[in-house]
Amino acid sequence: MRIIYTLMKNHLPAAQSVIDLIGNTPLVTLRYGVPDPGPQVLAKLEWNNPTGSVKDRMTAYVIQRALAAGTIPPGGTVVDNTSGNTGSALAMVCAVLGLRAVVVTPEKTSREKIDLVKAYGAEVIVTPTEADHDDPSGAYQTARRLARENGWFDLDQYNSQSNVEAHYMTTGPEIWRQTEGRITHFVCGIGSGGTFSGVARYLKKQRADIANIAVDIEGSVFTPFVTEGREVEGQPYAVEGIGSDVMTGAFHPDTVDRIVTISDAEAFQTARIIARTEGICGGGSSGAIAAAVQRLVPELHESDLVIAMFADSGLRYLSKCYNDDWLAEHGYAHAKETVT
Ligand SMILES: Cc1ncc(COP(=O)(O)O)c(C=O)c1O
Repeated sequence: MRIIYTLMKNHLPAAQSVIDLIGNTPLVTLRYGVPDPGPQVLAKLEWNNPTGSVKDRMTAYVIQRALAAGTIPPGGTVVDNTSGNTGSALAMVCAVLGLRAVVVTPEKTSREKIDLVKAYGAEVIVTPTEADHDDPSGAYQTARRLARENGWFDLDQYNSQSNVEAHYMTTGPEIWRQTEGRITHFVCGIGSGGTFSGVARYLKKQRADIANIAVDIEGSVFTPFVTEGREVEGQPYAVEGIGSDVMTGAFHPDTVDRIVTISDAEAFQTARIIARTEGICGGGSSGAIAAAVQRLVPELHESDLVIAMFADSGLRYLSKCYNDDWLAEHGYAHAKETVT
């Protein structure tokens, strides 16, 4: 119907909503620490998605599928817990599709992030920061309880297999197409694990010799699990978006060829260097990805093509890792020193 209307009115071809603008994010050459001549390293800039992060992808995919399957009724409610990018993605997707969004977030979440979720019309429920994963008053358990009690659709990004499927069906094929099947290394952070596991599985199916390299943060539980099969208690860390204090159902360790673990300081410092030297201003997690690429460089060949996922923008962290006072207050003053 829309197409007919468009033709009749002689409208220009255009996206019907911002959901249609999700994906097809650009690749840019990353030069920091990469020899020339040498391998080609390309950062995939996920902040070009409508709400500024990779999370738009799985959120739109999962909600549209659930609507099509009737799991979400027209005008229904979707809930999830998030302290970051999924909140704005969820709020945006629900705004476009005429759904109600409820975002449960810990108190520590920054004012800007909460305001962005509200700007898209979502309701925000704030829970105590100190309540951990199993605490009924914490964000995770509160979101599950609200979904159960009210019959709302529970996005549950950390355990959703539709999250993994979203990246298997869309992000993986997009990377394969963009690289003309020449990708040799895929470097990506693990938060829920959906992006990494979905893309890695897709790429491996295309060519078994592709190296899927997961990036984790020191203190997170993923690295001991992957390297030693050990379930440990997570330790605090400051990089946002990657790492976890509990194992997640959206992360499939069998999709990992290698895991690289980066410290907060190294992530922040690398993010700052790349912003100053290449004008690529990513979040702290993009710094971690670029730092992981550094570790790989000695083993790479000139014919290699590395895709490094940069999940969100430094604009989200101007008051954190891009702020010298914040770095000093949190004990990362040494991360401030960048190249001259
Ligand atoms: C800020 C941020 N959000 C999300 C992700 C990926 O998330 P997930 O593992 O939940 O797909 C990353 C991974 O690098 C990230 O850095």
